Amino acid sequence: MNIGILGSGDVGRRLGDGFIELGHNVKIGSRDPNKNDIAQWVSRHGTDEGKASSGTFSQAASFAELAVLATSWDGIPNAIKIADHKNFVGKIVIDVTNPLDFTKGAPPRLAVGHTDSGGETVQRLLPQAKVVKAFNITGNPHMVHPNFPGGPPTMFVCGNDDNAKKIVTDMFLTPFGWETVDIGGLEGSRLLEPLAMLWISHYFKTNNGNHAFKLLRK
Ligand SMILES: NC(=O)c1ccc[n+]([C@@H]2O[C@H](COP(=O)([O-])OP(=O)(O)OC[C@H]3O[C@@H](n4cnc5c(N)ncnc54)[C@H](OP(=O)(O)O)[C@@H]3O)[C@@H](O)[C@H]2O)c1
Repeated sequence: MNIGILGSGDVGRRLGDGFIELGHNVKIGSRDPNKNDIAQWVSRHGTDEGKASSGTFSQAASFAELAVLATSWDGIPNAIKIADHKNFVGKIVIDVTNPLDFTKGAPPRLAVGHTDSGGETVQRLLPQAKVVKAFNITGNPHMVHPNFPGGPPTMFVCGNDDNAKKIVTDMFLTPFGWETVDIGGLEGSRLLEPLAMLWISHYFKTNNGNHAFKLLRK
């Protein structure tokens, strides 16, 4: 499958690695597709001919059979505007973003919550896309192959299209090694984005990102 990732930061490049490992073709989109980080990422995958490429946000979105949003929160409206919402019509869009507000420094605060969420904001910006919130509650080093001594951690997902969530689970989350729990419609982002804040808060407290959530049952 052709996967277009809007966002060239740690998350975009890490998920790109994972998707390529699963046999997919990945184009990472950026305002500057030739910048160092991306050129290094493309050349690291140089042996997988054509598997890794870069382009503008618009090129990544039109390349995508499935798209991933992995820009900073304040970059989302601009990235989508450059990419053109028409390039997302009918497509699954994985929203990895967290609506973080760094204006008062770190740790950040949530810019939206309680009665709305980043995930729902993205869906309003892309009304004809099938937005699935996933991967937002963990640090990028653990997004692919989250190996923890306590067993597979849990990735909670939400979205309004059941089939889209199943595809994201079956094609990516399960092969990467996550246990997945579907928490329902995209309004579940109102829970998952604060959960990401808990992850982030623990990161700042311990100066260590080696933690993940697991749902225990009996
Ligand atoms: N870092 C993590 O471990 C982690 C974990 C879970 C979720 N997340 C979420 O995932 C997203 C990506 O995080 P990240 O750490 O990989 O990267 P980031 O530093 O938050 O974002 C980098 C990307 O945002 C784009 N961007 C920034 N300002 C922009 C603007 N005004 N217009 C268009 N694009 C803009 C950059 O585009 P250019 O390439 O053009 O500069 C770049 O591709 C964030 O929303 C974050 O909250 C991060």
